[in-house]
Amino acid sequence: MRRSLRSLLVATAAASLVVPLWAGTAANAEPPGFSHADKDTLRNQAPRDLAIGSAVWAQRDLLSYDPAAPTELQRVLGAQFSSVTPENDMKWDAIHPAPDVYDFASADALVAFAEANGQEVRGHTLLWHSQNPAWVTAASSTWTCDDARAVLEDHIRTVVGHFKGEIYEWDVANEIFQDNWDAGGVRLRTEANPFLRACADDPVALIGDAFRWAHEADPDAVLFLNDYNAEGINEKTDAYYDLAQRLLADGVPLSGFGAQGHLSLLYGFDTSIQANFERFAALGLKVAVTEADVRIPLLDGETGPTPAQVAEQAARYDAMLEACLNVPACSSFTVWGFPDANSWVPAVFPGEGWATIFEDDFSPKPAFDVMLASLRDATPGISPRRG
Ligand code: G3I
Repeated sequence: MRRSLRSLLVATAAASLVVPLWAGTAANAEPPGFSHADKDTLRNQAPRDLAIGSAVWAQRDLLSYDPAAPTELQRVLGAQFSSVTPENDMKWDAIHPAPDVYDFASADALVAFAEANGQEVRGHTLLWHSQNPAWVTAASSTWTCDDARAVLEDHIRTVVGHFKGEIYEWDVANEIFQDNWDAGGVRLRTEANPFLRACADDPVALIGDAFRWAHEADPDAVLFLNDYNAEGINEKTDAYYDLAQRLLADGVPLSGFGAQGHLSLLYGFDTSIQANFERFAALGLKVAVTEADVRIPLLDGETGPTPAQVAEQAARYDAMLEACLNVPACSSFTVWGFPDANSWVPAVFPGEGWATIFEDDFSPKPAFDVMLASLRDATPGISPRRG
């Protein structure tokens, strides 16, 4: 059993927040308007121990949480999902804003929300080229590899240690490979990532140690490599497959491979996602869809998607979910936030949007309906996760 579930049963100073709501002992804490026994929710239809998650930005959406009077976002998040991922709150710039300063406030709020709603937490992320604080960017220009190792080790041990027992999966290394359209092609990001740059002579040693430090800080967490453009079998996932084999041969406690699942209808869908998951699972790893969304090119800001686009979006979400359902090693399927108003997509891809599974009034889209049906078909009834 994962520690985060066990921890729900342990009395703590915040006992009123950690009693599992489905135990019946805290029914009064159940937010009005939904029931954890509701069969029409993604979390309750999930088969085996498959976690169904969403990202949420706690700093924006969870800092004030009253279980008796949740916001609509909080209500839907608690009702539909058994896992939450901090969209930004555990990233370096949020949690380690100055060399000797760790700020856990919004990440702790997310963990408290998860405990109050019987959810698990996916940690995101410990080694990434983006959203590093200014002090890292500045200092890294003169780092030796030993300097970089010391900073990264302190960060990983401190952050993973802070949440020990609360996080079931950690994205340890995020987006560490370039794409084939980047200068230099598919190779480790030894330029953009300040830690890999400082240790460019042997970046794999640093990556391996990042996993070792995380494992020592929380031996029960499943430790992931995670990336976009990593759904199907392609040049990038071939590089990950080689890296995973090398790390495992070196005894590194790598235990998961995550495909983010950021898709666009501007491009085709790579149907080799299940085969890709199967090859990583054959190495003994868990696999996961960690950040699913499907963006749609829209005619203009006022015009919604066409019926054909809506149907195609639903099919893409469902295809990713089906790949996960069909591979027993797939441990979690996470969508990257909701509703559309909260999506990162329009700011980064102008002209694309409508990417999440809930409309801005929180009504479910066809993608939600199709995924709910797939979960229901996979295993009728209550999942073992629900006890
Ligand atoms: O840093 C400021 C903060 O100080 C301020 O309070 C806030 C006010 O709005 O803005 C903050 O910056 C925002 C930041 O998230 C929060 O740290 C940026 O404007 C915003 O653009 C940034 O976007 C995030 C993005 O990662 C950054 O790369 C998105 O919300 C988040 O969805 C996105 O998530 C990534 C995954 O981590 C990795 N995979 C790709 C995925 C999508 O890009």
